[in-house]
Amino acid sequence: MADDSSTAAASTTTSPPLTAVATTTVTGGLSKTAQKKLLKQQKFEAKRAEKKAAAKAQKKSETERKRKEWEDKLATMSEEEKLKVMESRKEVRKERMDRRAEEKQLKAERLNAAKMNGQNVVIDLEFSDLMTPTEINSLVQQIMYCYAVNGRCTSAAHLWLTGCQGEMDKQLQRLPGFDKWIIDKDTQPYIQTFEHQKEHLVYLTADSETMLDDLDPKKIYIVGGLVDRNRWKGITMKKAEEQNIQTAKLPIGNFLKMSSSQVLTVNQVIEIILKYLETRDWKDSFFQVIPQRKRFEADSEEKQGDLVDDKDEQQYDVQEKKKPCTET
Ligand SMILES: C[S@@+](CC[C@H](N)C(=O)[O-])C[C@H]1O[C@@H](n2cnc3c(N)ncnc32)[C@H](O)[C@@H]1O
Repeated sequence: MADDSSTAAASTTTSPPLTAVATTTVTGGLSKTAQKKLLKQQKFEAKRAEKKAAAKAQKKSETERKRKEWEDKLATMSEEEKLKVMESRKEVRKERMDRRAEEKQLKAERLNAAKMNGQNVVIDLEFSDLMTPTEINSLVQQIMYCYAVNGRCTSAAHLWLTGCQGEMDKQLQRLPGFDKWIIDKDTQPYIQTFEHQKEHLVYLTADSETMLDDLDPKKIYIVGGLVDRNRWKGITMKKAEEQNIQTAKLPIGNFLKMSSSQVLTVNQVIEIILKYLETRDWKDSFFQVIPQRKRFEADSEEKQGDLVDDKDEQQYDVQEKKKPCTET
């Protein structure tokens, strides 16, 4: 885990909800660590924009090439052959659309069933003041990914987004079809949404001393909506303690050797929960979700820092092809 020895209040965020835990010393303006991080982030963003533009240009030229190929092929055909080919293409397209409509229908049925009696999982979105717009964007991508994975699960969970306001809400609203998502969204904090079920709330946090043993359908599991590369160490644990609600950590250590940090991203935690709901097997769930590169023991402090400092880690984890893990 990246860690500076000193702690100081974060200087750039507005009214953090708790008295936690920034890990950088600020000596007027930006600290050296912050300057280094900023520079690294700027470089990363420039590189990402470059890659995106290159991919877009390549896609365009590929589409153009295929279109030309198709036109050339048509030009060599008789009118009768052309009609036949067009008909067959129409047929294929229609089949594809029917299949998609059917999948969509099944997904809606699964999610509606989960809304009635599935496992409740909350993403706590009260931390948006502590994130940069890029981090908020990354969290939004993770939420989108979680929703898509949940929709494909045979044992889908029911997702809640609580404390959803401001920039966070704005960015979510921009997602295509977001208003039709089968979830519950609340501007209020979960502590108010579930004020009559407080005893059922369990905040999942890597800092808990309680190991999650099984998922209890009566419980409401909360995941901290944070992309912070653990800049806000312990913030969810502190919040749960202050609210006097239960906490638990995933039983990762029982099954896997991790590379230093057991702090996972939001989408990884939710995916593990979804896999577990399907398989009731923690080991299998961890192996399928946790990327291989997170498993090795770090061989130096530097490497440990990289794990949580890696600029595109959270984005990367959403996209990375999952590789098999090794056992402890
Ligand atoms: C990127 S982490 C945020 C880390 C943040 N500094 C904190 O104190 O929670 C996103 C969320 O995933 C959940 N999480 C991550 N690793 C976990 C673990 N090993 N066990 C339980 N929950 C975990 C927590 O709810 C956490 O808030």
